[in-house]
Amino acid sequence: MVAPSMPLELDKQAVRRSFDSAAATYDQHAVIQREVANRLLERLDWMRLAPTTVLDLGAGTGFCARALERRYAQARILLVDLAPAMLLEARRQRRWRSAQRYVCADASALPFGDASVDVVVSSLTFQWCEDLEAAFRECRRVLRPGGLLLFSSLGPATLHELRAAYSTIDERPHVNRFKDMHEVGDTLIRAGFASPVLEREDLVATYAEVTDLMRDLKGIGARNSLNARPRTLGGRRALTQLRAAYEPYRRDGVLPATYELVFGHGWAVANARAQDGSTVFPLNRLTRR
Ligand SMILES: C[S@@+](CC[C@H](N)C(=O)[O-])C[C@H]1O[C@@H](n2cnc3c(N)ncnc32)[C@H](O)[C@@H]1O
Repeated sequence: MVAPSMPLELDKQAVRRSFDSAAATYDQHAVIQREVANRLLERLDWMRLAPTTVLDLGAGTGFCARALERRYAQARILLVDLAPAMLLEARRQRRWRSAQRYVCADASALPFGDASVDVVVSSLTFQWCEDLEAAFRECRRVLRPGGLLLFSSLGPATLHELRAAYSTIDERPHVNRFKDMHEVGDTLIRAGFASPVLEREDLVATYAEVTDLMRDLKGIGARNSLNARPRTLGGRRALTQLRAAYEPYRRDGVLPATYELVFGHGWAVANARAQDGSTVFPLNRLTRR
């Protein structure tokens, strides 16, 4: 296990490099990411929104952006990503006469004016942000009154099997650390969001071999980007050890890889007014009564 005192900061340049180098292979390996994005976007079915500007934060190859464009045909869709190669791939896949705009920027320093966006959607990006509060604050700043932030992220149980298997080899951190749902919720409130709603779900992917899991992680650019990550390759012996340590998790012939999904949303004001004058209720009020 990693010692509690060990610094677990993410190296932003390493995050950018990993995703840049994965832009061409991302879609081929992003099965989990597509499933999570679909579950996230489904949540918009419950909300009456008529946005003119929608921001897809950490847009990657543009899967969410294209869905948002279909859903809100009148809206301008802004795709923001730290990795320029991801944005180039998204632009390559855009439909003809698309209203998409591509902006290479960091979530914690958005190059947009205050109150200039109606909806921010972000799927599986905030877990890559070292300063989550700064990223949430930026979302809050760019959102218009009544605006919505809707996101998915990963919780600490994510890849717990892989983390435990690695811990039998050495004490260095091989798997990124993820914030707990409650911590994410508290951060959302501190950043000024009203009526925050957080939910968690487990999604278990299965693989024939641990190397298949590692190939998918590499293929989407989800490499270990901790500052304290090991700088040398593990080698054949380490891989043999890793395989053996993962093997006890095998059930029904396959190896599980758990993803703890965190879904959340918050509003730029407590009781937003929709453009048609009707009141927009946060999702938690709709589901709990
Ligand atoms: C796992 S991918 C998700 C992509 C897309 N949202 C999807 O669901 O397919 C994470 C994306 O977040 C981007 N990213 C990571 N850190 C970021 C940051 N600080 N600011 C903006 N984008 C970031 C990465 O470059 C990558 O494209």
